[in-house]
Amino acid sequence: MSLPPLEISDVITPRPVRRSDAVARLQASGQVRAARLVERMPATDDVLDEAHVVALMRRVHAELQRLGEELQLPQRVSEDLDRLRQAMGNPLRRVVDLGCGSGYVLRWLSHDPSLAGVDLVGVDHDPGLMEWAARLGRADGCRARFVVGDALAPGVAVAEPEATIVISSGVLHHIPAADLPAFFAAHATGGVAAFAHYDPEPGWLTNLGSWVFHRARMREAVSRHDGNLSMRRAHPADVLLDAVAEGAPGYAAGCVGGQSVLRVLRPVTGTKGA
Ligand SMILES: C[S@@+](CC[C@H](N)C(=O)[O-])C[C@H]1O[C@@H](n2cnc3c(N)ncnc32)[C@H](O)[C@@H]1O
Repeated sequence: MSLPPLEISDVITPRPVRRSDAVARLQASGQVRAARLVERMPATDDVLDEAHVVALMRRVHAELQRLGEELQLPQRVSEDLDRLRQAMGNPLRRVVDLGCGSGYVLRWLSHDPSLAGVDLVGVDHDPGLMEWAARLGRADGCRARFVVGDALAPGVAVAEPEATIVISSGVLHHIPAADLPAFFAAHATGGVAAFAHYDPEPGWLTNLGSWVFHRARMREAVSRHDGNLSMRRAHPADVLLDAVAEGAPGYAAGCVGGQSVLRVLRPVTGTKGA
């Protein structure tokens, strides 16, 4: 029996990665085409070429930024942050974006007047992306900081938790359902004021819309493969709400279920003690 499908980006991160290991993991999941894509990546002594993978991941994330632009993701995050901060007992001082990739959401929010003076910190476990996000940020005068770290243990990035909102986009589907309660429990243990994590509601409409978008707008084979798969790996709203109830029971949670072309990435939100 095949194992659950994997995104190519997950098997080539964190590096260094042995190409044969990455290929074997994809083959064990029955992903023959994905395994062939990795097999064709350059390697020295079976270790994937760092420069090649860094450049590839930057191209993939540039295409992901395009998706964020189409879906007006930062604008939606900004509106939700407004709502969440109204429900907080303390003034908002910091927004932490877990698995921030190119940093597009924070780079946009950095120019949002409603967040003037709010500290913006992006966290991702891919150093090649964090170096690039910081460079893009400097180029457009953005004040966000980007640090290498684990989304499941953001630690120091969440200083002043009672004044912090934690966000993410496109990250929840990287976390197996069994580990979701621990993900939300880390927010509760850290004591963050609120959270908003954006991912698609899975289903036929999401799959169809994703396929059309990826065929029409994405050029990288890895983008197309991972993008389509991520829609299928996403967790339904009731699974997310159950995970919040189990891991972070002190938070008032919300997540609108049902697929919608107008709301492809919908957040699961939580507010502490509300
Ligand atoms: C689908 S991408 C989304 C990137 C970005 N948030 C966006 O909306 O364009 C998922 C991101 O999560 C990061 N990621 C996945 N698992 C992670 C983990 N355990 N810790 C930190 N980053 C992680 C990946 O490196 C990647 O940048």
